[in-house]
Amino acid sequence: SGLITLDPGFKNTGSTQSAITFLDGEQGILRYRGYDIEELAEKSNFLEVSYLLINGELPSKTQYERFSQRITTHTLVHEDIKKILDGFPSVAHPMGVLSSLICSLTAFYPNSLDPNNTQEEIELSIVRLMAKMPTFAAWAFKNKVGHPVNYPDNELDYCSNFLKMMFALPAAKYEADPVISKALDKLLILHADHEQNCSTSTVRVVGSSQASIYASISAGINALWGPLHGGANQSVIEMLEAIKADGGDSKKYLEKAKDKNDPFRLMGFGHRVYKNFDPRAKIIKKAADEVLAKLGIDDPVLNIAKELEEAALKDQYFVDRKLYPNVDFYSGIIYRALGIPTDMFTVMFALGRLPGWIAQWKEMRENGEPIGRPRQVYVGPTQRPFVPISER
Ligand code: CMC
Repeated sequence: SGLITLDPGFKNTGSTQSAITFLDGEQGILRYRGYDIEELAEKSNFLEVSYLLINGELPSKTQYERFSQRITTHTLVHEDIKKILDGFPSVAHPMGVLSSLICSLTAFYPNSLDPNNTQEEIELSIVRLMAKMPTFAAWAFKNKVGHPVNYPDNELDYCSNFLKMMFALPAAKYEADPVISKALDKLLILHADHEQNCSTSTVRVVGSSQASIYASISAGINALWGPLHGGANQSVIEMLEAIKADGGDSKKYLEKAKDKNDPFRLMGFGHRVYKNFDPRAKIIKKAADEVLAKLGIDDPVLNIAKELEEAALKDQYFVDRKLYPNVDFYSGIIYRALGIPTDMFTVMFALGRLPGWIAQWKEMRENGEPIGRPRQVYVGPTQRPFVPISER
């Protein structure tokens, strides 16, 4: 079988050729289909960016209207999915609920299991995913807080509909604040794709066995959940809260992060690819300032975050290792300002990453990529005879 090159964590292994996202970690550049992330965050919207990622080009006005219209008409989910939701205890983490509900779509749309789905069938699955994910995400939250679920409101735009499903209560009128909708839309754009990261590689590997697109995306949600990946946004706020509760001494935590005998890491710092500022972190930091100012919120945790960042950027340990704030460092602060509870942060990341996962799944299938199957170097025992249990 020839010589096998070991590369744990695939630090230097390219798994595919891709035309979706360009990332230069040394210079801190991120582009979707050639468009700078800064420009998309400023001028575009999440559905337009989703179309771009999935189809390769920005939509014409007609294409955009058709795309958003189709998504809007599929936001409702099968009523039996509510029974699955009801089976989850309220302590269930919304990420586990979300991946389960997404996977349940394989049962409601079993033709997605056929690897020979036509182009139209695949497009419909994609529309369903984009349409139903916000419904599931909001329902996962409702299950946690014990409130009745809200059905989608198709008069609203993507983000306002999601916010209404999250926050409207039967006894009160609810209208999403446009400042909040806009900020959320920007955050989703910033999270929409990031080439071959852990969850995206998971989606591609699961999809490479020709599993259903729903099963592949569900697997991606699970990969995103971990604290070293998307789960970091929740960990950042928990860390900042802990620092605040401990008297706000950020220097002490910086020392802990540097101590190799202490498992503590500065959450929201460091990145496998960025050895410079994460361009998304720059935009989010600015957006956090703007959103908090517009909503008139004074969050002491933001000040701790800024102090921590400033101290880390000057610290030799962080400088030597090129550890900069990543996308998760400030996103939690905005989510909090938008009223989103901490254990929903990673769900928000998943909502944003969905079009990226879809685009990568589609590219992998269209390119007819082979099944993902890494090799290993075996280091276990050599051949030995079986010993019956009575003689062990
Ligand atoms: N705090 C303290 N030290 C760190 C940190 C940190 N946050 N990140 C890396 N290091 C050190 C690490 O100990 C190692 O030191 P040494 O060379 O002395 O052994 C060196 O920097 C290189 O780190 P690594 O763990 O080998 O790097 P990696 O590419 O395997 O890991 C990472 C990347 C993102 C998992 C890591 O930086 C980390 O754990 N960061 C905190 C979690 C986090 O914020 N994750 C979100 C990532 S961005 C968005 C996403 O993927 O969801």
